[in-house]
Amino acid sequence: MSKTYKIAVIPGDGTGPEVVREGIKVLEAVSKSDGFKLEFIHYDLGGDRYLKTGEVLPDSVLDELRKVDAIYLGAIGHPDVKPGILEKGLLLKLRFSLDQYINLRPVILYPGVNTPLKDKGPEDINFVVIRENSEGLYAGAGGVLRKGTPDEVAIQESINTRKGVERCIRYAFEYCRKRNQKKKLTLCGKTNVLTYAFDLWERTFYEVAREYPDIETDYAHVDAICMWMVKNPEWFDVIVTDNMFGDIITDLGAMIQGGMGIAAGGNINPEGVSMFEPIGGSAPKYTGKNIINPLAAIAAAQMMLDTLGEEKAASKIEEAIKKVVANDVKDLSAGKMGYSTSEVGDLVVKYLGS
Ligand code: IPM
Ligand code: MN
Repeated sequence: MSKTYKIAVIPGDGTGPEVVREGIKVLEAVSKSDGFKLEFIHYDLGGDRYLKTGEVLPDSVLDELRKVDAIYLGAIGHPDVKPGILEKGLLLKLRFSLDQYINLRPVILYPGVNTPLKDKGPEDINFVVIRENSEGLYAGAGGVLRKGTPDEVAIQESINTRKGVERCIRYAFEYCRKRNQKKKLTLCGKTNVLTYAFDLWERTFYEVAREYPDIETDYAHVDAICMWMVKNPEWFDVIVTDNMFGDIITDLGAMIQGGMGIAAGGNINPEGVSMFEPIGGSAPKYTGKNIINPLAAIAAAQMMLDTLGEEKAASKIEEAIKKVVANDVKDLSAGKMGYSTSEVGDLVVKYLGS
């Protein structure tokens, strides 16, 4: 009997539903040819449901999500909902409740895709950022005193635990070994100023490194990383960093790999339920126009299959994406692709078979 995976689908807000539709189209095509089954369970979580019912993520839904094989997410963020409600109540709540402590974000420039970096090509831009995804400034520690008065105090603390830091660093070393490319792991921090948090990161990094003599270690401050990502991206293989720095440097990463149209990420719990998403957001101004690029969502679907253990099907999707950008879609930005959202999905499906 062929294997069946239960996939929770959260199309979410804005262009989320449009890009998720194409991802599912590709997943269905590849599952047929590769002999496994996917059972999709749709959830209408997001801004519209919140505006209608006041619900963001009901406990009953969260309990159901704990039992699936993976979650496929479109985008979260609604122009009529105050910033923070959906981001914290839905996206971060899912990441934290399901203990998805790794945010895996490849930065790979495929041949044929334009990068804004002068004189850099696919041989230079090929690395992976491993962002800690459960702690740091995102943990929500802190508070406000005397709000609205001239004496207001706002405190936002970065939480770094030995356990949280170590499991992320270990994952990064393992990942770097398995990736088997430059075998170089760079810690991105700020040890010259954040002397409590990044002292813990640095000590843990070099302690764990002793177990990985085959991996070259490197350290750079986050501001310098931003500089090197633009000037010498070829130096990087795998970068490991905390939640906030990882958030920032992966937007920069997305831009050098061709834009949000192609950047995907995985929120990984290696022992539990993981969630895959295009990292671009809900893009309200493009909603419903069938012009948004679905390749990032399709790449997220590829990462999902890879994590589920369907590596062959995953690499078929990757090869098909590469053909689409090499042969057909020259500009990856919304409205400039020369193809509609659904046509780009069709192109990926067409190349799956070849
Ligand atoms: C991301 C996003 C989220 C984050 C927001 C929407 C909360 O920017 O996935 O990178 O900051 O993690
Ligand atoms: Mn971000």
